[in-house]
Amino acid sequence: MNRVHAVGQWRKTRATLTGTVGFVPTMGALHAGHKALLERSVAENDHTVLSIYVNPTQFNNADDLDNYPSTLEDDLAMAESLGVGHVFMPEYETLYPDDFRYRVEETDFTNMLCGAHRPGHFTGVMTVVMKLFNIVQPDRAYFGEKDFQQLTLIRDMVEAFFMSVEVVGVHTVREEDGLALSSRNARLTPEARARAPIFSKLLKDPRSDAAIVEALESAGFDVDYIETHRGRRFGAVIMDCGSHEVRLIDNVPEPEG
Ligand code: PAF
Repeated sequence: MNRVHAVGQWRKTRATLTGTVGFVPTMGALHAGHKALLERSVAENDHTVLSIYVNPTQFNNADDLDNYPSTLEDDLAMAESLGVGHVFMPEYETLYPDDFRYRVEETDFTNMLCGAHRPGHFTGVMTVVMKLFNIVQPDRAYFGEKDFQQLTLIRDMVEAFFMSVEVVGVHTVREEDGLALSSRNARLTPEARARAPIFSKLLKDPRSDAAIVEALESAGFDVDYIETHRGRRFGAVIMDCGSHEVRLIDNVPEPEG
């Protein structure tokens, strides 16, 4: 597997590749959800590029950034075993020669749901994804539906800026008890992990959004939002884990009442 750190190094390799290039951008700490994205890319393309970069511009909470899990050696082993050909692992200076003076902003959907609770988050996401697309030059890029708001904003960005990459959404991978896989799950205490599936279960409950907020609060969750938009119900909750908090997000097709 080819490990790439510099843009010039990658551009030389990219120029030699024939056929299609699939791209899976990640922040590392790979789990079965990322595995599904990589498998899909490997199956659908001649080459697959994985990027691992914990993007500081999308964190509005320094604590969350400092504690973001890192499992680099395991990540590389997983990628290699799945047939990923190239891993791009840039530094901040490589991706942000402008020191984030230039940004991609969206003025509507970004202000709702996670955007309303994490100011600047999606500007950081869209900016880094546009930079990565411009460097990697993929034919297809794969994103999980677990981050449905992110997926929608990236799809719309590609359309708005006439970018020639196909954005592919991949179904959320869940634990047997329904909890959506996330790198953040590793930070749940055993007690919080045992309670967490109540969140995904209640999201599918056909009662109103307000009734679900009430039910979650009675079950001890601190609710950021439960809202239905564009035919999907979105939710975010914060779980108290004693020394720290863990924020979980999820979404499901709008439950039929
Ligand atoms: O979903 C993620 O892991 C990140 O938001 C992404 C798309 C890799 C951008 O940093």
